[in-house]
Amino acid sequence: MAKSAILGLGHYVPSKVVTNDDLAQRFETSDEWIQQRTGIVERRYIEESGIGASDLAVPAVKNACDDAGIAVSDIDAIIFATLSPDHFFPGSGCFLQKKLGLPGVPALDIRNQCSGFLYGLQIADAWVRAGMYRRIALVGCEVHSTGLDFSNEGRDVTVLFGDGAACAIVGPTEDESRGVIDVEVHADGAGAELLWIEAASSAHDPRITHEMIDQGLQYPNMNGKQVFRWATEKMPEVSLSVLERNGLTTADIDLLVPHQANRRINELVARKLDLPAEKVVHNIQRFGNTTAASIPLALSEAIQQGRAKQGDLILLAAFGSGFTWGAGLCRL
Ligand code: ACO
Repeated sequence: MAKSAILGLGHYVPSKVVTNDDLAQRFETSDEWIQQRTGIVERRYIEESGIGASDLAVPAVKNACDDAGIAVSDIDAIIFATLSPDHFFPGSGCFLQKKLGLPGVPALDIRNQCSGFLYGLQIADAWVRAGMYRRIALVGCEVHSTGLDFSNEGRDVTVLFGDGAACAIVGPTEDESRGVIDVEVHADGAGAELLWIEAASSAHDPRITHEMIDQGLQYPNMNGKQVFRWATEKMPEVSLSVLERNGLTTADIDLLVPHQANRRINELVARKLDLPAEKVVHNIQRFGNTTAASIPLALSEAIQQGRAKQGDLILLAAFGSGFTWGAGLCRL
């Protein structure tokens, strides 16, 4: 059975930098509050209305193809992980496929929020092992900025999120010393309403009303304390589980690339895993929480900065809305 590997990585963020001070001009918050609670200093927003998730993904895919040394036309499948799709339907993968000029290439959207990249990696790995596809574009991409509540009611959530895109090209490798080793994912719908967008909803007829909009049900709503508690429990638990079932320990890890939700969460996770600070990647200070994009974006940067290199054992870990969580192991 063929083994899969991440053959290339690329990312793209919009040019508009939004600092904590910029947000403090729109609602009651402060640079000090945001940095202390989350580690975030600034995030990126799309430059203008009209740029959807599939638009941000195009340059990320092209950069990943360049890194993998393949042409865009070599891509034979797309997996698009996002919680901020261009439209309710069809999936953003179809819009991306058209923009990349890849008619006929299958496009699968997945909705697993901050764990989306890991769910997608598990699917891509299985497809490659089964011999179905050889050049899968696994995309994580979000345009959050058009869906946030810029009033005092939404400030707890709004300060966290940023826009961004990243892509991994996943394909077979003959090289025994590299590749995806394992991905383990979980979900618990008991937490579904602790981090969600309530409307528009197919359970409401009509799906959205003026009253719902007045109540702000179209904005993300989060019980931050519960999310914090679950994330700091589940990320170490699933990381240890995936290590153990592969006969590895945290001492074998060269780099932890966690989902970038909150710097305090990741510092606590690293402490529970006994990993020193130099083995943990943080870029939340510059991009905020880019949800499905955050893990491939952080890994792509870590490689570009020389922090992750060929042969390194990388642990990926995520927790997010759903609740969903997971961990993955790969050698670059
Ligand atoms: N600026 C200033 N004050 C604020 C802000 C803000 N942006 N947001 C909330 N506050 C206030 C609150 O109103 C509250 O005031 P009060 O005490 O007078 O009522 C006070 O700050 C403390 O609020 P808490 O919610 O208790 O703040 P906490 O210390 O829990 O931090 C935070 C909030 C940062 C959101 C934290 O709970 C957290 O990081 N949770 C995890 C979030 C997360 O990881 N989300 C990622 C998942 S996203 C995904 O999967 C899509």
